[in-house]
Amino acid sequence: MNILLGVGGGIAAYKAAELARLLVERHNRVQVIMTRAARQFIQPLTFAALTGQKVCTDLFPKSTSDDALASSIEHIRLAQDHEVLVVAPATADLLARFAHGLASDLLTTVYLAFTGRVVLAPAMNTHMWQHPATQANVQTLLSRGHEIVGPNEGPLACGMVGPGRMAEPEEIAEVVLAGTTVKDLAGETVLITAGPTEEPIDPVRFISNRSSGKMGYALAQAALARGARVILISGPVNLPPPRGVELVRVRTAEEMYRAVMEHLDEASIVIKAAAVADYRVAEPARQKIKKTALRLNLQLEPTPDILAEVGKRKGDRLLIGFAAETENLIAEARRKLDTKNCDMVVANFVGRDDVGFASDENEVTLVTRTGDVVPLGRASKLELAHKILDQVMRLRLVLHAGE
Ligand code: PMT
Repeated sequence: MNILLGVGGGIAAYKAAELARLLVERHNRVQVIMTRAARQFIQPLTFAALTGQKVCTDLFPKSTSDDALASSIEHIRLAQDHEVLVVAPATADLLARFAHGLASDLLTTVYLAFTGRVVLAPAMNTHMWQHPATQANVQTLLSRGHEIVGPNEGPLACGMVGPGRMAEPEEIAEVVLAGTTVKDLAGETVLITAGPTEEPIDPVRFISNRSSGKMGYALAQAALARGARVILISGPVNLPPPRGVELVRVRTAEEMYRAVMEHLDEASIVIKAAAVADYRVAEPARQKIKKTALRLNLQLEPTPDILAEVGKRKGDRLLIGFAAETENLIAEARRKLDTKNCDMVVANFVGRDDVGFASDENEVTLVTRTGDVVPLGRASKLELAHKILDQVMRLRLVLHAGE
């Protein structure tokens, strides 16, 4: 898809760079238009490098060279050649100029000449957002059928806490691409587990791991975008749940086990991205353990193996496990595939800082029941989530054809 990305002058302009990257990564051609104020916050070069396109900034040509005629109609060409105009951050000033049809620079002129879908991601101080003038402009823009993403609540650059924070780039990208993503998971219910579990030692301490939930939440977001109903069973994480997901919060492996079993009947696809503790303290102390002994021994017992249990009750569901390894990646993934009756195992190394636990990127290899080993290389967790789901849908076809 050809996307115009208008960048307004706000502190959130730096997040527009991440938005440009995400849109390009999902195979879109992105043309950036920056306002004069946006260039106070971030350099055009950043967007040019991310999109591979020259950034447009001016309505009028800088010189009276031969390019002058071409430049004088550039806003019409830009408006005609693109299907979506997304503006992030959309400042109070831009919303006002769009609402009132002022064509005072390249971005507002392109807006007037543009006939496609418009997505606006406002970002400003809370009082500016709540001002009746801004709210009236927003109503005008909504009445034209434009989509508004955010703003979200949170700490703002001005020191206030409240609505005004630009929506996260992933959230904006998902809205921009929502209409274009193939709904190949429509009719499926995907049950996804994500994040770590916490196994109590005493009332204030627990055993856990470094999982942030990002991989599982990316899978949930991708499955939702592809039309699935998504039940996300999540350990304790600091992530906002993707809009539209049915979120079940759990803490321990035992709670995750019970939640998975409770929802299993509804699911047609199960993906187990959670980093479940393998052991828990056999008898957690009822009171905080005092520092009296020189050594403290904790008796551990195994937690329920949720993946193996789902494998036993799988029926005709597709079951996708993960394997987090520090050595013998493919051999271990194959072993888990067989012993836990999975259709596919997503194998990742977890001994590195740049991929795996907690990072925004991962590098995985898929090992399937049909004998394939598919290395997916390194990419953002959202991009990998889509590639994993591509393989899930391919497996569904192959396995059903073989029945
Ligand atoms: O959350 P992030 O920070 O984004 O990091 C992502 C990740 C590294 C956690 C993720 O990509 C990943 O590898 N998840 C699986 C982690 C794990 O527990 O792997 P494992 O090899 O120990 O377990 C194998 C499989 O059994 C997993 O699908 C796991 O969910 C499941 N399991 C494990 C133990 C248990 N008691 N019950 C289970 O169901």
